[in-house]
Amino acid sequence: MDSAKEKTRQETVESATAPTLRERLKALNNVPPVLGMIWEAAPREVFGGVLFRVLVAVLPAAALFVTKYIIDALVARYDHGTAIPHYFWWLVAAEFALACLGMIFSRVADFCETVTADLFTRYIGKRIMEHASRLDLTSYEDPVVYDKMDRARVQGTDRVAMIRAMGQLIQQAITTLTLAVQVAFYAPWILPILFVAVLPAFVGETHFSFLGYSLNFRQTPARREMDYLRIVGGSKDSIKELKLFGLGPFFVNRYTTITDELHAQTVALARRKLIAGTFLTLLGTLGYYGTYAYVIYETVLGRFSIGTLTLLTGAIAGASTNIQAVFSTFSGIADQALFMTDLLEFFAVRPRVFSKPNALRVPRPIRQGFEFRNVSFSYPGHSRVVLGNVSFTLERGERIALVGENGQGKTTIVKLLVRLYDVTAGQILLDGVDLREYELEDLWKEIGVIFQDFVRYEMSAAQNIAMGRIEQAQSEESIRVAAEKSLADQVISRLPKKYGQMLGSRFEGGVDLSGGEWQKIALARAYLRDAQLLILDEPTASLDARSEHEVFQRFAELTEGKMSLLISHRFSTVRMANRILVLENGRIAEQGAHDELLKNRGRYAEMFELQAANYR
Ligand SMILES: Nc1ncnc2c1ncn2[C@@H]1O[C@H](COP(=O)(O)OP(=O)(O)OP(=O)(O)O)[C@@H](O)[C@H]1O
Ligand SMILES: [Mg+2]
Repeated sequence: MDSAKEKTRQETVESATAPTLRERLKALNNVPPVLGMIWEAAPREVFGGVLFRVLVAVLPAAALFVTKYIIDALVARYDHGTAIPHYFWWLVAAEFALACLGMIFSRVADFCETVTADLFTRYIGKRIMEHASRLDLTSYEDPVVYDKMDRARVQGTDRVAMIRAMGQLIQQAITTLTLAVQVAFYAPWILPILFVAVLPAFVGETHFSFLGYSLNFRQTPARREMDYLRIVGGSKDSIKELKLFGLGPFFVNRYTTITDELHAQTVALARRKLIAGTFLTLLGTLGYYGTYAYVIYETVLGRFSIGTLTLLTGAIAGASTNIQAVFSTFSGIADQALFMTDLLEFFAVRPRVFSKPNALRVPRPIRQGFEFRNVSFSYPGHSRVVLGNVSFTLERGERIALVGENGQGKTTIVKLLVRLYDVTAGQILLDGVDLREYELEDLWKEIGVIFQDFVRYEMSAAQNIAMGRIEQAQSEESIRVAAEKSLADQVISRLPKKYGQMLGSRFEGGVDLSGGEWQKIALARAYLRDAQLLILDEPTASLDARSEHEVFQRFAELTEGKMSLLISHRFSTVRMANRILVLENGRIAEQGAHDELLKNRGRYAEMFELQAANYR
């Protein structure tokens, strides 16, 4: 079993296609939008950063220029006994001032970039969260989108290096330019040689960072599995089974197998880079020393003064390191831009379920109710037909229940009703109008739903309830009322800090609740909502018999005159509905009130008998 799983994992690692060189160049298209985002996040800081980088950039050329005059003056004095010029000490002071300014400006530029990067990280983090919360369930279920989101999260938020690199690129380019002008002034043909000499190193650099990115890309699914193993292998939810089934070593082993493999891949690449990269850089050094030898030769022949020699050697060294730096910084930025591909693509993922322009407001009150008309549905990317041609109505003021065995599509019906997905065929109507015509957020405002897998917010009890209607600040009173309705008040009154009690065990001072207690808290959210349609998907699965009875007694009272949809496996609950729909094989097999269905002696009666028999 293990080896089979291992194989599928490797297949997923290999099937994730890495970007080609062309895509990589195309990624440079990302630079403008990214620059736009950086500018939007921190305009003042970007301006400051660029300004100071430009200032720092021109200083080396200026300093070399001053040095040349200092040295020539000194040489003249020793060779010919000429007096040093009157401004000589000013030159020395200027040299010192330039050095100080260089240091100060580059620190200021650094500061501006640190602040920019931090503001950018904040900005991107916020945008990712906003975007993630807007996406459909489908996006979360699609591994490709999920991988993208993962990469966007990790790589989109930490762009300090990229912002620094952009600042450095400006500085290096300008420094190269000014030094090149100096070199060109004395020996123009040195420049092309220098340029050609750094090319191999640049190509090598680019090639390997590309391979690095591809590797990283291919490793994403494996890294996601590692994250998963890390979570399963050490979390509160799994620790009970982990211990009792003795699963610890199993998870550790799987984890190490993956890390070993990833490590081997990383080292293999690093080794190739070491060998090829060193060779290519050596070529560059050769070119640099060639021009250096030439300058010395010319000086020996007396064509260059010692001052010029100093200036040229300094400028050549500076220009060659800077050209090299420009190339590698640029290549670094190109890679960073690739990482931004994930981010930009993630931002480009649009929800498939959305409100039309000029969508309708949901009627208040709803007059006729909901109608499923020949609805069929398959989950996106899956061929299995979960619902086939389902038709039923949920009329105003009606309480209906859905029953059926596991996996028959009960929760799916709820997801369609609240438009977490759109139907594959057929229509869902609200007051005779297709659900897709209504504004989505407005629809959600009118529906209170507690899902089977409701969320246990690791926040205070009051906040947990307030989540039911977060758009409005909730008074303590309204929270208390909702809690009373759902019986959560009994749970809360036993907590040491009552409504202010932190729930869950993630944070300090938190108190964990039992399944049923959590359920009562979640239920309070639905009551807080004051919606026209209330949906409870197995809301009482963890409740004890007495609580369940009480909860439903109240539910019946509280939803009197409203529409409600219940899903439950307990017939004691289900029988309270005005109408019961029996789902089987993606169709409605039967519907009617409890007594009618019993009389029919069909599927419902059979299931009821089965459950009742257990109690006799
Ligand atoms: N996100 C999903 N992607 C693909 N298939 C899904 C998804 N969610 C559910 N299904 C499939 O749809 C079918 C119906 O699922 P649904 O959750 O509606 O069942 P249910 O009637 O609520 O079952 P239960 O009583 O266990 O809650 C299941 O067979 C399941 O495999
Ligand atoms: Mg379900």
